Amino acid sequence: MRIGILTGGGDCPGLNAVIRAVVRKGVGVYGHSIVGIRHGWRGLMDGDVVELDREEVRGILPRGGTILGSSRTNPFTATGGVEAVQSTIEAERIDAVIAIGGEDTLGVAHQFGAAGVRMIGVPKTIDNDLSETEVTFGFDTAVQTATDAIDRLHTTAESHDRVMVVEVMGRHAGWIALHSGLAGGANVILIPEWPFDIAEVCERLRHRSRRGETASIVVVAEGAVPLEGSMTLKSGAVDEFGHVQLGGVGTMVTEEIKARTGFDARVTILGHVLRGGTPTAFDRVLATRFGIAAIDAVHDGAADVMVALQCGEIVRVPIGDAVGTLKTVDPALYDLATVFFG
Ligand code: F6P
Repeated sequence: MRIGILTGGGDCPGLNAVIRAVVRKGVGVYGHSIVGIRHGWRGLMDGDVVELDREEVRGILPRGGTILGSSRTNPFTATGGVEAVQSTIEAERIDAVIAIGGEDTLGVAHQFGAAGVRMIGVPKTIDNDLSETEVTFGFDTAVQTATDAIDRLHTTAESHDRVMVVEVMGRHAGWIALHSGLAGGANVILIPEWPFDIAEVCERLRHRSRRGETASIVVVAEGAVPLEGSMTLKSGAVDEFGHVQLGGVGTMVTEEIKARTGFDARVTILGHVLRGGTPTAFDRVLATRFGIAAIDAVHDGAADVMVALQCGEIVRVPIGDAVGTLKTVDPALYDLATVFFG
C-alpha cells in the first residue's frame, strides 16, 4: 500500500514522534510505502510530497515542530481545492491518508472520507479540546512549559510585590490555563468556559494584599472573556477555517488591575512558546502509541476513524464523532481550582 501522511493546523510537540512511528511500523513491519505530504492539505493540493523511509525519520523523536511542515489551508474553501487533492491522490497512487490534526484538519479529513478517500485521523492540539480522546499529545508539554514559566514568575513577583498576569493559549477551552494554573499555584485562573468579572478578580487580589500577600499570579487563557464584553482580538484577520487571531486579554486584564487596585502589575504572554520545543516523555509515548495505532488501522482496512485515548487504551472512533463539538473544561475541575483562588 502507499500511505500518505500529513500534519495540519498549529504545530505541536510530538508530531514528529507520530510520523516516526508510522514510518517505522509501516515500512519496517508491514512493508508499505509512506508518502510525506508537505504543509498539510496544501501539499495534497499542490502535489508537494516526499517519500519517507527509516533514514528520513532518524533522530526526530525528541524534535519539536513537524518535519513535514504545516498550514491552515482548507481545500474546501480554496478554489479547485477538492479536485486538486483528488488528482494528487490519484497521481501519487495514494491508497489512504493519515491526517494528524485538530478539529479543523480532522473536519476536512472527515469530508474527504465521505467523498470516498480512506482517511485515518490522529488527534493533535496543545489546547486538548478535541472530543472523543481523553488527551491529545502536545498538551502535556504545553502545560509543563507554562508551569515552568509560572514557577519563575512567582519569584520575581515576590521580589517586587507585583501581580504577574500570564496569558496562555486556549482559544475555546481553558485546559492549559487550568492545569498550569493548578500546577503552578496560581491565585486566579480565567478560562473561556467561565466569563470573568474583573471587579471580582481585583477584590481577590485586594484580599490577598490585606493578608500581607502582595505578590499574586493570574493565569488567563487567550480566549477568556469578561462578563460584559467580547473576546480580545489581535487583529481582524480570519484564517481559512474562519478563526480570528486572539491575543491581548492578558494585557487588558493587567491594565484593569493596575487602574482599579493601584497594584503594580506586569503581563507575560507565553503564546507560541507553548507550541515549541521538545515533547515531554509523556507526549513522546502517547504520540508513538497513536502513530502505531494509525498505521495498524490503515493496515487493517479501517476508514474514517480517529485513534484516541480512552481509559488508558488506544481505541478507534468515527472521525465524525470527534469533530463538531469541542471538549471543554470539566466544571468540577474548575470548581476544585477555585479553592486556591485569592
Ligand atoms: O493550536 C491551537 C492554537 O494553539 C490556539 O490556541 C491558538 O489560538 C492558535 O493555535 C494560534 O494559531 P496561529 O499559530 O495560527 O496563530
